Amino acid sequence: MASSAPIEIAAGFKPALLKVEDIHLGFGKVMALNGVNLEVRPDEILALIGPNGAGKTSFLNSLNGFYRPQKGTIVFDGRDLTRLSPHRRVEAGIGRTFQGIQVFLGMTVLDNILTGRHIHMRSNSITGALRWPWAIREEIEHRAVAEEIIDFLEMEAIRESVVGSLGYGLRKRVDLGRALAMEPKMLIMDEPMAGMNVEEKEDMARFILDIQEYRKIPIILVEHDMEVVMDISSRVAVLEWGRIIAEGAPSEIRTNPRVIKAYLGEG
Ligand SMILES: Nc1ncnc2c1ncn2[C@@H]1O[C@H](COP(=O)(O)OP(=O)(O)OP(=O)(O)O)[C@@H](O)[C@H]1O
Ligand SMILES: [Mg+2]
Repeated sequence: MASSAPIEIAAGFKPALLKVEDIHLGFGKVMALNGVNLEVRPDEILALIGPNGAGKTSFLNSLNGFYRPQKGTIVFDGRDLTRLSPHRRVEAGIGRTFQGIQVFLGMTVLDNILTGRHIHMRSNSITGALRWPWAIREEIEHRAVAEEIIDFLEMEAIRESVVGSLGYGLRKRVDLGRALAMEPKMLIMDEPMAGMNVEEKEDMARFILDIQEYRKIPIILVEHDMEVVMDISSRVAVLEWGRIIAEGAPSEIRTNPRVIKAYLGEG
């Protein structure tokens, strides 16, 4: 055939927002990431799967700056983030939820979500306490954003509840709300469904799809629940021993013999 590229452009093919090239990350003799290349486009939910210890969390930690790979580059939204601190990467637009729970248990749902607004706040506790008009105006704006997120994640009934009094599934939802409050340009989620019951998983899956659809941001999802992964992801990448061993549509990955052997198993 002649060229397929122009057809893809005509069909709305979007260039990558994130480009990761040749990442190597070692801990002593263990190579957690061993030459990982990955691109993520703005309109996709990319699932990153693989066995325990494959390097999935290490990859996310390299994206948000918790870990510093010895080699490789991370370009996001046209900017080289490779040497930036985690804080600067949040400012650059990388939002994240965590494998464990990363919320303030003694604070209310609303206040937890407001902590996600910190990167957008001009006023500090002193100017806030002095009640300058602009500080008050700013606070009203941040509260409006937080309330919108509470609506979106259907948490009106628990907005004033202390997070420590909530079940695991709702705590994870609060963690997602905190990440959304940062208004990220990309969201990375480490095992959002872990420890959830079926109903909580269904809710979370719906929220992930809605975030991609309405905010138009890509989501990188690390998840062990294959039913969820195959249901909601646009593309799947498979890690094994720090290397990507397969990448493709969910239907391709499900039947890929190498992936079945490394991770999915028969049946
Ligand atoms: N901070 C660290 N110090 C030493 N070794 C680490 C560190 N973080 C990760 N590793 C090692 O790197 C490898 C990849 O671990 P990682 O946590 O990225 O796996 P994972 O794919 O997220 O696994 P899981 O599905 O169990 O969460 C493992 O061998 C792990 O022990
Ligand atoms: Mg992990």
